Amino acid sequence: APVPVVAIDGPSASGKGTVAARVAEALGYHYLDSGSLYRLVALAAMRAGVPLDDEGRVAREAARLDVRFEGARVWLSGEDVTDLIREEICSVGASRVAALPAVRDALLDRQRDFRRAPGLVAEGRDIGSVIFPDASPKFFLTASVEVRAERRYKQLMEKGLPAKLESLSKDLAERDARDAARTVAPLKKLPDAVLLETSDSGVEEAVAFVLNEVGRAP
Ligand code: C5P
Repeated sequence: APVPVVAIDGPSASGKGTVAARVAEALGYHYLDSGSLYRLVALAAMRAGVPLDDEGRVAREAARLDVRFEGARVWLSGEDVTDLIREEICSVGASRVAALPAVRDALLDRQRDFRRAPGLVAEGRDIGSVIFPDASPKFFLTASVEVRAERRYKQLMEKGLPAKLESLSKDLAERDARDAARTVAPLKKLPDAVLLETSDSGVEEAVAFVLNEVGRAP
């Protein structure tokens, strides 16, 4: 039987990262945070002086990305960039390079390599649609822009990173619009995805809900 994949897609700061990591831990599955790959590509390109709209050159950076994941930390060419890739400049950069089809293609196999026994929990925007269309179950996790901006604000504060609630909210809305409007792999809920609205519920509840659905998956 194929290695099972649980897909969790949704907009930025919807809580999908936390939920996916917790579900993976509970199931003893591997975990893929696909958004981190786009953040890493943006960082690598900016450092190489590559304009973020130069599709060919950004795709080449994506193909040769030297990345290592270890627990919750990520290294780019031997440097721990875990906190750096969470900064707004990388968030904005990620959503720009993610709109380039050649960049998405260059990251396809890298993402599929995460599918290893006993299973994988993968989160992003196109996990259920493009990367692992045979994933089961699939979820679309979302929350209002206000709630998501506040969550991101708290996360950044806890890490001692600079942030302004107002600009976070504006950036999130802009990124959502860009992610939903692009022609390749736009952000949208699939007909076969379970909608999970987390504006009023905590992470705990969402984790329990997902685990319950996984138990029922065919
Ligand atoms: O999930 P996260 O906020 O880290 O993703 C950063 C950006 O990467 C998103 O705004 C989106 O443009 C892009 N992304 C994507 N497809 C994915 C994951 C992330 O296009 N599977």
